[in-house]
Amino acid sequence: MRKALNRLIDELHRLKEQGYEGVEVSDRAFAQLKEAVEHQLAQAGPSKAPIPAPSATAVYRERPAQTHPVRSTFAQPEPRPVPAREASAAGHRAPPATQSSNLPAPPVFEIPAGSKTEQLTWLKDRVLSCPVCTSHLRPGKQLVFGEGSPDAAIFFCGEAPGADEETQGIPFVGEAGKLLTRIIQAMGLSRETIYIGNIMKWRPETGSDYGNRPPSLEEMAFCMPYLEAQLEIIRPQVIVGLGATALNGLLGYDPERRITSVRGQWFQHGSIPVMATFHPSYVNRNGTNRIKRMIWEDMLAVMERVGLPISPKQQAYFT
Ligand code: URA
Repeated sequence: MRKALNRLIDELHRLKEQGYEGVEVSDRAFAQLKEAVEHQLAQAGPSKAPIPAPSATAVYRERPAQTHPVRSTFAQPEPRPVPAREASAAGHRAPPATQSSNLPAPPVFEIPAGSKTEQLTWLKDRVLSCPVCTSHLRPGKQLVFGEGSPDAAIFFCGEAPGADEETQGIPFVGEAGKLLTRIIQAMGLSRETIYIGNIMKWRPETGSDYGNRPPSLEEMAFCMPYLEAQLEIIRPQVIVGLGATALNGLLGYDPERRITSVRGQWFQHGSIPVMATFHPSYVNRNGTNRIKRMIWEDMLAVMERVGLPISPKQQAYFT
């Protein structure tokens, strides 16, 4: 129960960081929450032990641009300490979690010569047999490498697999994925013609089947070379950074960055332009037409950038 409450607090912090200004709570959920808190207090006894503070988030530094030929040498970034007072005043969570501090240094490897398809197959094999990645798998679950066209002009980058994704081994197949698929289709594309990947190849452990948590600094640093290699092989014209974690991974951690402020803007990951936009789960939770229009405007900018035709109907969505 205590764990579940802590996860709830973590999730609320995470939403706040992503720019949410509120969450809707049904009467039923309120009643369940009250029951959970009362149960927790009753268990804590007269001392009423406080619920521990939620775990911390990643601190992530900008990395140097990738060089050619590809040799993924992403160094584990040093955490930038955020003084507690500064952190709380700015509404941030405390410095990095220790959850995965036992991770070894991120992998360093060279991609063998070959066609894009051969290279992606080689990389996928490497990821799926990576002992560190597989050590984070729970029984019956899978790593999620990514999928799509090796020649994709657009690379959609998310955060990490969730429960549905680790079950199927495919990125963005849950609720957020259904929305992402609809967005891709509305752009006149299909999942087969673009590429979808994540910062993380494993689902960050939460200790249960439900709920997600953002990856820690160490987890992101460990997985980044695999994403770098995917980008290096595919060489998309544009990356769509879906949400705060994707942007922290692609652009470097910036405690001041708010997705609500930066969405719709172009950034660079090495030589590749990055469009910052909302994570589809944000749209699912804050499903107002205003938010939908914003994410759609971001996609129109992406379409324009890669030279996709935009019909009057597409132009007018959500207006
Ligand atoms: N959210 C993500 O960021 N990635 C997925 O693959 C699924 C949900």
